[in-house]
Amino acid sequence: MRAARVLAIGSLADIVVEHVPVPVPNEDQLLVKVGFAALNPIDYKVALHGHRGGREFPLTLGFDAVGTVAAVGSAVSSVSVGDRVCLMTDIMAPGTAAEYVLARERNVAVVPAEIGDTQAAGLPLAGLTASQALDLAGLEAGQSVLIHAGAGGVGHLAIQIAKRRGAIVYATSSSRHLDLLAELGADHPIDYHATPPGRFAGRVDLVLDTQGGAVAEATVAAMRPNSVHVSIVGFAPAGAGRDDVRVKTMLVEPRASELAALLGMMADGSLRVVVDQVTELGAFVTAILALHDGHTSGKRLIAIR
Ligand SMILES: NC(=O)c1ccc[n+]([C@@H]2O[C@H](COP(=O)([O-])OP(=O)(O)OC[C@H]3O[C@@H](n4cnc5c(N)ncnc54)[C@H](OP(=O)(O)O)[C@@H]3O)[C@@H](O)[C@H]2O)c1
Repeated sequence: MRAARVLAIGSLADIVVEHVPVPVPNEDQLLVKVGFAALNPIDYKVALHGHRGGREFPLTLGFDAVGTVAAVGSAVSSVSVGDRVCLMTDIMAPGTAAEYVLARERNVAVVPAEIGDTQAAGLPLAGLTASQALDLAGLEAGQSVLIHAGAGGVGHLAIQIAKRRGAIVYATSSSRHLDLLAELGADHPIDYHATPPGRFAGRVDLVLDTQGGAVAEATVAAMRPNSVHVSIVGFAPAGAGRDDVRVKTMLVEPRASELAALLGMMADGSLRVVVDQVTELGAFVTAILALHDGHTSGKRLIAIR
């Protein structure tokens, strides 16, 4: 089968699409024939830095996808051959940017018929991150939440999930994405080039931070006492000098029941994936370089079929 592979840590331009054997499921695994995979920043982080260590190269990129179950192990009971599923892999078991990928039942959810393939492909990793970050923040109806990078893969889903949970949403983007933020339901779209976080971070109860660095530090410095800052970039902001702001970090986990709940929101029309671009597997390098530029709206997908 064809797969987008990193042969060694290095440059994104060195990623190759090459032939590798189709994997064989063991008793608690299923084999999925991939239709579309999604790209996430963790793909370029793995390719450039190895990210979180312990990975052996060469490896196949991709952490989420939609496809059809092609085979199941003897201990698999919740899905059957022929089911259309979307999935997020375990974080140390990448490989959806390929014609076939292995998964476990905890990784997958059956996709309702009314949801299209590209919608389902863009959902798993970014949607679970948005949902789990808002859970960790303790978001309740009536609270206000600031979502940095509201037009990005995680942010555009977080805006919609937060609105569905009854929040007042502040979200940041450049000026070219402000209309998208409003369309997604943001009450207060903010141009981050024109308005620094110090001017608005003090108005919210919770922050979902996708940026880290100077953005996170300026945000925490301006937050109210007892507000909550959740960072998804892997480390808490340093140097803000606040012990009255609850600063938390998280790493997304695949959870089948949560993924099914997000698909339910899609089916009832309260959640949608914005698809920036769909690229053929053979042009994987072009797509990951574009993601790495950092100005994607919604999700970039890889067509495998
Ligand atoms: N901890 C976890 O489990 C976890 C899970 C998922 C993602 N992540 C991490 O979270 C980060 C975001 O992921 P993603 O998929 O949302 O990325 P993404 O889709 O690549 O984000 C792109 C967006 O970032 C916006 N942006 C760039 N600079 C900004 C700034 N200074 N302020 C506000 N927005 C800015 C861009 O808006 P404009 O084009 O308008 O500039 C663009 O829409 C990545 O570092 C990723 O690795 C962590």
